[in-house]
Amino acid sequence: MNTIKFNVSEFNTRRQKLMVTMHEGIAIIPTAPEAIRNRDSHYPYRFDSYFYYLTGFTEPESLLVLIAGNVSTGEPPKSILFCRDKDIEREIWDGFRYGPEDAMQAFGFDEAYSINQLDLIVPKLLSNQTKLFYSLGADIQWDARVTAWLNEVRNLARTGIAAPAEIADVRQLVDNMRLTKSTFEIDLMRRSANIAAAAHNRAMLVTKPLKKEYEIEAEFLHAFYSSGAQAPAYTSIVAGGANACTLHYNANNCVLNDGDLLLIDAGCELDSYASDITRTFPVNGKFSAPQKDLYELVLNSQLAAIEAAKPGNHWNAPHEAALDVLVQGFIDFQLCKGSKDAVLESGSYRQFYMHRTGHWLGLDVHDAGDYKDKAGNWSLLQAGNTLTVEPGCYVRPADNVPQHFWNIGIRIEDDVLITANGNEVLTKNAIKTVVDIEALMSSQH
Ligand code: GLY
Ligand code: MN
Ligand code: MN
Repeated sequence: MNTIKFNVSEFNTRRQKLMVTMHEGIAIIPTAPEAIRNRDSHYPYRFDSYFYYLTGFTEPESLLVLIAGNVSTGEPPKSILFCRDKDIEREIWDGFRYGPEDAMQAFGFDEAYSINQLDLIVPKLLSNQTKLFYSLGADIQWDARVTAWLNEVRNLARTGIAAPAEIADVRQLVDNMRLTKSTFEIDLMRRSANIAAAAHNRAMLVTKPLKKEYEIEAEFLHAFYSSGAQAPAYTSIVAGGANACTLHYNANNCVLNDGDLLLIDAGCELDSYASDITRTFPVNGKFSAPQKDLYELVLNSQLAAIEAAKPGNHWNAPHEAALDVLVQGFIDFQLCKGSKDAVLESGSYRQFYMHRTGHWLGLDVHDAGDYKDKAGNWSLLQAGNTLTVEPGCYVRPADNVPQHFWNIGIRIEDDVLITANGNEVLTKNAIKTVVDIEALMSSQH
């Protein structure tokens, strides 16, 4: 597996920034547990994104403690890592592990201890802290452990030691930080996007009638791993014909038929950053007239949505822009009846467009961060935000639907960075116009 590159000062800066935002108290941030797939086989390990964001450390059985410190008493802020001990015997079987001493040096922590010392050390660290920042409810096993540590400190009350009186969700503070990507993160997201874009273009080149969906999925896995990505960012959707009308279809086991469209939603994870691209194209390389009508409608709605993704616009502006175009098209193509306002008001368009137009993108494919502010208004887009723009149209057979559109499912999804003056489409190398798709596919040998 390709190892993740890290940048000590980037991660150190994030910890410092979080400790300043905490202002006081202690944060406890465990990484994700390993997960069994079946019997004694594990799923490929994926660390927790919050933990990773603050450490760059990818080993399981690790936990970060941050102590905000206190300017008036002179107590300095402190980052402490708990991780697995070095263990030559285990390393022979499972591979390298840093051990606390080397991890402390390599990742720039102030202190590091064995994960086996958690129960001994953490209650001491919690003693006399005013506030605990912890993601209560994310993992019941950690919740039980943290509760036990708190109770241990509470039992010392008569000796004059106080437990934190307040518990706050550390994720809220980190979510705000994760919403605005740094130059370091944007560089990774561009590279992740480029790998996925090249894979989508390649998929168009190799697709032809009678191939199987899983053969195309295999092209993506090959492209991702051979380009240095560590994993797909999510299970690829490779949906021929009517399968595209199942939004989360991922059986990927059908034959691709001449005359059908193929919808592929696939992206990779590069050094922990996700790309998320959907392209839809004809299996035989040439759009039929109804396919082209709906495809160009979705493409126009996507271009309108991308145009609306700019600083100062609110989160929902791209969705509203996409809907405006889609609904007019649904009326023109006799999929919906009535005026645009009436269709928007009644929501009848949801028969064909039932999801939203995007989500934040980053360490998680559906990334951290609120979509509304505390007053309940949509958040304003700001430079450094990264999001997807992914309108679609899914036509299941129904009496009220012209038959030539039946079983057409289309989505076009790009990854967009908000810049100071507008946006940058990170996935712009994945081709998407009818002309470009047909030209590329006609060059198949
Ligand atoms: N691939 C998941 C999504 O598009 O949201
Ligand atoms: Mn998406
Ligand atoms: Mn997607």
